[in-house]
Amino acid sequence: MSAPAEHERPAMAAPRANAYRDTWAAGAVDRTVGDEIVVSGWAHRRRDHGGLVFIDLRDRSGLLQVVFHPEHSAGAHELAGSLRAEDVVSVRGKLVERSEATVNPNLPTGGLELQAAELTILARSETPPFEVDDDGHVDESLRLKHRYLDLRRGTITPNIELRHRVMQTMRRVLNERDFLEVETPNLTRPTPEGARDYIVPSRVKPGSWYALPQSPQLFKQLLMMGGLERYYQIARCFRDEDLRADRQPEFTQLDLEMSFVEEEDVIEVTEAVLQAVLAEAGIEVTVPFERMCYDEAMGRFGSDAPDLRYGLEIVNLDDIFAASEFKVFQGALSGGGTVRAINAGPRGLSRAELDELTEFVRGHGAGGLVWAFVEQGGGWRSPVAKFLTDEERSAAASRAGASEGDLLLAVADADAHTAATSLGALRKHLAARFGLVPENEHRLVWVVKFPMYEFNTDEQRWDPLHHPFTAPEGDLDDPENLMSRAYDIVMDGWEIGGGSIRINTVEVQHKILDTIGIDEAEAGERFGFLLEALKYGAPPHGGLALGLDRLVALLAGADSIRDAIAFPKSATGADPLTGAPAAVDERQVRDLHIVSTAPPPRQEPVTGAAGGEEG
Ligand code: AMO
Ligand code: AMP
Repeated sequence: MSAPAEHERPAMAAPRANAYRDTWAAGAVDRTVGDEIVVSGWAHRRRDHGGLVFIDLRDRSGLLQVVFHPEHSAGAHELAGSLRAEDVVSVRGKLVERSEATVNPNLPTGGLELQAAELTILARSETPPFEVDDDGHVDESLRLKHRYLDLRRGTITPNIELRHRVMQTMRRVLNERDFLEVETPNLTRPTPEGARDYIVPSRVKPGSWYALPQSPQLFKQLLMMGGLERYYQIARCFRDEDLRADRQPEFTQLDLEMSFVEEEDVIEVTEAVLQAVLAEAGIEVTVPFERMCYDEAMGRFGSDAPDLRYGLEIVNLDDIFAASEFKVFQGALSGGGTVRAINAGPRGLSRAELDELTEFVRGHGAGGLVWAFVEQGGGWRSPVAKFLTDEERSAAASRAGASEGDLLLAVADADAHTAATSLGALRKHLAARFGLVPENEHRLVWVVKFPMYEFNTDEQRWDPLHHPFTAPEGDLDDPENLMSRAYDIVMDGWEIGGGSIRINTVEVQHKILDTIGIDEAEAGERFGFLLEALKYGAPPHGGLALGLDRLVALLAGADSIRDAIAFPKSATGADPLTGAPAAVDERQVRDLHIVSTAPPPRQEPVTGAAGGEEG
């Protein structure tokens, strides 16, 4: 569940007085005691007490207590007796101070109440499938199925408000710097960002398909070739990939691009945007942000998105075990691999818990896990202690900064990347498990100096580490050592954005595509329009995209990016509210010239009865 947002919610300006309201519920504090006011909203909670009926009236601004007295208005009092949770009401009455004993210090309007003179029931509510008036745990699929009720609860709406302010701030900072907001098409051709495309069949051109953009990458480059100089867009992107907590099949980027710039220009603009955006969430940061090379991030943190808020750094033990007799270490090192370790600190873990950690790193590709408790005098309590010399043990402990009582965890692997990333995952796991992540601290870091390619052992070819339009740095004929002019921005261990300086000549573009296995014919077929444009004078250009959903989730302190999105998809990519994806009727499919080999899906009911079980 998301933590309640800690940022200040700005007060709402008074609404135009009409038949429904002349103030927001929370706006009652700005009205004079004794005034007659009119408010509208939902019956949040009803209590009957000593012949009186109380409701908390809820609108977006907050709550205001309403009291129905039989003496003040017998009609309203009687009608109030029939109110149920989530009925929509309008109340006219007199604003009064609560008696001292009944003041609620937890509510901004807790010193006031509205003495009802008139009650109008605008719409009745059936019993909702979950309680809207408490923020207790509700199964997420039920919350998503009835997202409109979920939004009425206090947890999500503050995030949506924050998201709004974040977007406004982004626009303000970029507008001040002469950026133009430009929309690019959604019905287009595939843009390779490393995921599968969502495709849309054409009705008028049988057998042809549009792709939904994985990002506006190619269009923003074309805008630079069009001389627009500075572009941004709050753009929807579509990627058909395996979902995780920090991913959605459709998500939003703040996408930007600039001409005649170097890395430093893009970094400076991004820092200005982020500094202003973070301030909206009450987080002060100084610029410039820290920077770290990709190699260092992988080496010390086992991740290209390092979380710098806690230690548990990874150390390299290759030299120490270079001549080791222990076959696991020997095997890895003789194959050109590595032995690396984390000092987990003084942790009294049981054998079963250590086995769990071993399974955890195996799940991240490691062959196993060596564990060792450092004992008095430098000995190790470890199943592998007997295979190691005193010198090896003490040098390893000293490299990891481990003293008596500390737990050392080591992985040996022929592949340095696997050793790094499995320990990187273990590092995160240990930090969460032992509560080492500080609550109210944020760390932003640029990761720079990326390799251009990584070798894909399954496919036996070079893949771009970023997208293939990233400008290279170094010898184009040496893919192993070629670097790229890319940069990622990481906050608290989440990649919140990434970008690069781009290729601006057709020769270099061809060369890069060729190295990743896209020959000229295929390149022409897939990106002919970009290659053509590169022939007519493309300015040096570069940019970046920030993941808006991730950023807002982080600022709101939410666990999942779903809590930063009004209508998110579930973990399986489905929309429990509308029932998408769903079957379409046969005629539609025929009109699109599609033949399906799948059996017709079982139609899930999407409306009607409240709970999923009854539906
Ligand atoms: P990239 O693919 O790194 O770069 O995306 C930029 C940022 O978008 C966010 N993001 C996502 N958020 C939610 N769900 C997803 N499935 C998802 N995928 C990515 C991340 C990421 O850092 N065209 C380039 C940018 C450029 O080079 O200018 C691009 O799309 O926070
Ligand atoms: P084995 O020779 O497979 O019985 O392993 C001996 C010890 O080394 C066990 O504690 C294993 O968990 C551990 N081990 C095996 N493979 C690795 C590896 N790749 N990295 C770290 N430890 C390993």
